Amino acid sequence: MGRRLDLHEVVDSTNLIAGRLANEGAPDGTLVAADRQTAGRGRLGRSFFSPGGTSLYFSVILRPTSPPEEVPYHIFAAAVAVAETAEAELPEGVSVDIKWPNDVLLDGRKTSGINLPVHVERGQVVWAVLGIGVNVNTTREQFPPELRELATSLGIAAGTEIDRVRFGEALLLRLEREIDALRAGGFPGVLDRWRKFFRMRGAVVRIGGPGIRREVSGTVEGVDAEGALLVRSELGLERILAGDVTVLARRA
Ligand code: BTN
Repeated sequence: MGRRLDLHEVVDSTNLIAGRLANEGAPDGTLVAADRQTAGRGRLGRSFFSPGGTSLYFSVILRPTSPPEEVPYHIFAAAVAVAETAEAELPEGVSVDIKWPNDVLLDGRKTSGINLPVHVERGQVVWAVLGIGVNVNTTREQFPPELRELATSLGIAAGTEIDRVRFGEALLLRLEREIDALRAGGFPGVLDRWRKFFRMRGAVVRIGGPGIRREVSGTVEGVDAEGALLVRSELGLERILAGDVTVLARRA
């Protein structure tokens, strides 16, 4: 991964550039990174705040051979890589959690987001782009007011500046290891490591968001072998495959 590197100072979105390169035939593992994004994209059509000089924004082109329904497993692999790298870099006592499926939280606030646009033709995945953003040294003041209570950075959580390049290198090594593990050994091993950071069991949640047809509210019972969130709602046990989770209470 990263043997082909495409580095930029400013881009609209590394995901868009990676998508273009993928359409031109760029190989599996091509890495596109930028210091700043003017139109960073999040999940569910949201934007991702991407100021320059502080953080990591990158996209990896994937050419998975797995069936389309298994491609999202890469999101779990990436969340494990980010969470494990954060845990290794941060002082003990900072809690590193994964909010299903792919937000990495430090002391309850989001420090990293991951998305995975997938390009399918005739039922086959032609390429996917694993987009990862990590707030490394963003200060509280740099976040727009509406994000200040929701977002954080590694530097804020550590109480000191984090070496962005060193963190990026460590993250990419772990990411490569997780993706290799996923391809060689399947999802169970990745999911086991992911579960270590999943502490939402018992939380009362509401799942909705753009494109989600029916809002579901209930209590989280866990995550099944395919990574679906299991929520006990008034209709029974529901398997949630996509959506935005709002935590209403940490334990029922
Ligand atoms: C989310 O939290 O909703 C996902 C955010 C993903 C952001 C990353 S930053 C690098 C890559 N380029 C983008 O435009 N988005 C992803």
